[in-house]
Amino acid sequence: MQSDRLLLRGRILTFTSEPQSPSDTASYDYIEDGALLVGDGKILARGSYCDLVAQAGDAEIIDHRPHLLTAGFIDTHIHFPQVQIVASWGAQLLDWLNSYTFPEETRFADGDHAAAMACRFFDLLINHGTTTSVAFCSVHKGSANAYFEEAEQRNMRVIGGKVMMDRNAPDGLRDTPLSGYHDSKELIEKWHGRGRAHYAITPRFAITSTPDQMEMAGALVAEHPDCYVQTHLSENRNEIAYTLELYPKAKDYLDVYQNYGLLSSKMLLGHSIHLEPREIDALAETGARPVFCPTSNLFLGSGLFDDEGLRERGIVNAIATDIGAGTSYSMLQTLNEGYKILQLQDQKLHPLRAFHWITRGNAVALGLEDKIGTLDPGTEADIVVLDARATDAMALRMDRADTLSEELFVLQMLGDDRAINEVYVAGRPQKG
Ligand code: GUN
Ligand code: ZN
Repeated sequence: MQSDRLLLRGRILTFTSEPQSPSDTASYDYIEDGALLVGDGKILARGSYCDLVAQAGDAEIIDHRPHLLTAGFIDTHIHFPQVQIVASWGAQLLDWLNSYTFPEETRFADGDHAAAMACRFFDLLINHGTTTSVAFCSVHKGSANAYFEEAEQRNMRVIGGKVMMDRNAPDGLRDTPLSGYHDSKELIEKWHGRGRAHYAITPRFAITSTPDQMEMAGALVAEHPDCYVQTHLSENRNEIAYTLELYPKAKDYLDVYQNYGLLSSKMLLGHSIHLEPREIDALAETGARPVFCPTSNLFLGSGLFDDEGLRERGIVNAIATDIGAGTSYSMLQTLNEGYKILQLQDQKLHPLRAFHWITRGNAVALGLEDKIGTLDPGTEADIVVLDARATDAMALRMDRADTLSEELFVLQMLGDDRAINEVYVAGRPQKG
């Protein structure tokens, strides 16, 4: 019988901890002529090619030399119904939502449209090396079903949820406190823990949820403490001012979510830019995760994320594209813009930490590092094959690169989907 096991040969890089400096060689394992033995959707062994070929039996050998194999990328904040409004001109957050985003999301009432877009969405993710997404779907239950169904067909580990939003949105894009609760509950029962799927309870943000709906979101969190929770926090100054008008008793923006019992290490808070000291204390105490969205924050002119300030408080930051306010599906381009945002604040994003962040770091933020984000035996075989010479500009630069860190920095600053040579999802090649 033909084995379904694969032996992937190439240069192997995986992280064991967050790199503490640009020269922290103890934080990763790098094998120059390495291999991964893959079977049953998992990584069975990692080692030198020489050692593994001896134990690989009849596994099919796929030679990826001279390319670099890392864990698949993880995008921790992305809006699946916004694929057709990426690069919409001219506005900051609240105008952008009203002019482009909300009208577009009303189209996801149509289940066929949602299914077609889900297919295109996951094609794009895979082509950019992203093997796990944490997505906001539209308010419509069917959009979340389309998202999870497409991911299930591809056997991808995903997190997602239908947004709850019952005010300050157009007709056709509002639920009610009760329908939002029941639809979310039905989706949790259907999808959470099925195959590789997880559900995220998703009140969109304070502006689009009444206190009654926030209370229902709190009830869902209490009833399903193992679900994720995702929302937006302090992205834009006008957003913050309007939020405090709508919730006059709240001490600050985060206090709205805190009052309804939403904060825990399962909570992902997109943007988290303009934070008050009390909010930072609350993040540190509860373990809730800010999500840095560099391309989006620059595109909407939202502000500069204080990565170092939060990290110094022991807060675990995730990083993400935030398509469709984000301008690239590529986690490499996300690192590129992230590097520049940190430069503006005299902070540093060195290449080892950058590659750790989009793989194991984001997995840690999700509490999934035993499943994804590394190339450790026993974890799921979500793998990207990277070509740092993918374009002429990259190849020329690489002629002068002598170290692994330099190669990673070329990928971080110049890489995009062209640098993704192959992608494996649960051990299956997706491109070639
Ligand atoms: N805040 C509430 N909804 C959204 C959204 O769709 N995108 C961004 N960037 N911010 C939001
Ligand atoms: Zn968002």
